Amino acid sequence: MTRHAEIDLTRIPCHVAIVMDGNGRWAEQRHQPRLFGHRAGVESVQDVVAAASELGVQVLTLYAFSSENWKRPVAEVGGLMSLLKTFLVKELDKMLNNNVRLTCMGDLPRLPSEVRSTLEQSMAATAGNSGLTLNLALSYGGRAEIIQGVQRIARQCLAGQLSPEAIDEEVIDAHLYSAGLPDPDLLIRTGGEARLSNFLLWQASYAEILFSPIMWPDFRRRAFVDAIVDFQGRERRFGKTGAQLRAG
Ligand code: IPE
Ligand code: IPE
Ligand code: MG
Repeated sequence: MTRHAEIDLTRIPCHVAIVMDGNGRWAEQRHQPRLFGHRAGVESVQDVVAAASELGVQVLTLYAFSSENWKRPVAEVGGLMSLLKTFLVKELDKMLNNNVRLTCMGDLPRLPSEVRSTLEQSMAATAGNSGLTLNLALSYGGRAEIIQGVQRIARQCLAGQLSPEAIDEEVIDAHLYSAGLPDPDLLIRTGGEARLSNFLLWQASYAEILFSPIMWPDFRRRAFVDAIVDFQGRERRFGKTGAQLRAG
């Protein structure tokens, strides 16, 4: 693959999370229906998944459909669901060949049953893969995720299986959809908006955030590599001073 000279392959972020935004505006600029943009966006997904896998990113979380996106027109929601299903069917062989493990997170019972069953089949088929974890956020909302986790924790407390004092960050982590995954190191939002839109509210507490003006259908391998180079130029201080970090 062609790489930028400046990328440091020894410091690739472990987990990259992306809010894939801008499909609708990209289509509008071309006087096309919104679904045309979503279709073009699938090609960006393929490109970025391949790049992440080749660069050795361990987890790539893609925000594909939010809990709020159910409020869109029925035809757009239906179009997105059918694109998702086609993507899953088409990509399975590629995921198997490239050692990609598929996972997903969100309020999955809300998805159409044929999408859910395709998802389940692909996740089962790729469960043993040890390369990139491709984690799709589907019908995902950060607040809903926290609520379901808190409810499960509260039930354990009521049943006497957990004391409230024992609730710490690890307990919360273990009750989120993302249990078992590291926190994102780099969170990218394409499409020019500077907001989180209910994405990874707990997990992104120390993520480096990059807001890119590029619309998702134009966000290809090159833009992804540029984002990683940008990430590598930052100093992650986690509350310490720069001097402390440089002193080791
Ligand atoms: C992101 O693109 C894709 C989804 C939310 C499913 P949008 O559809 O939000 O595109 P814009 O923001 O309207 O351009
Ligand atoms: C966020 O994009 C969700 C996804 C990219 C899947 P939206 O386009 O739905 O976000 P808002 O509503 O403009 O904040
Ligand atoms: Mg949008």
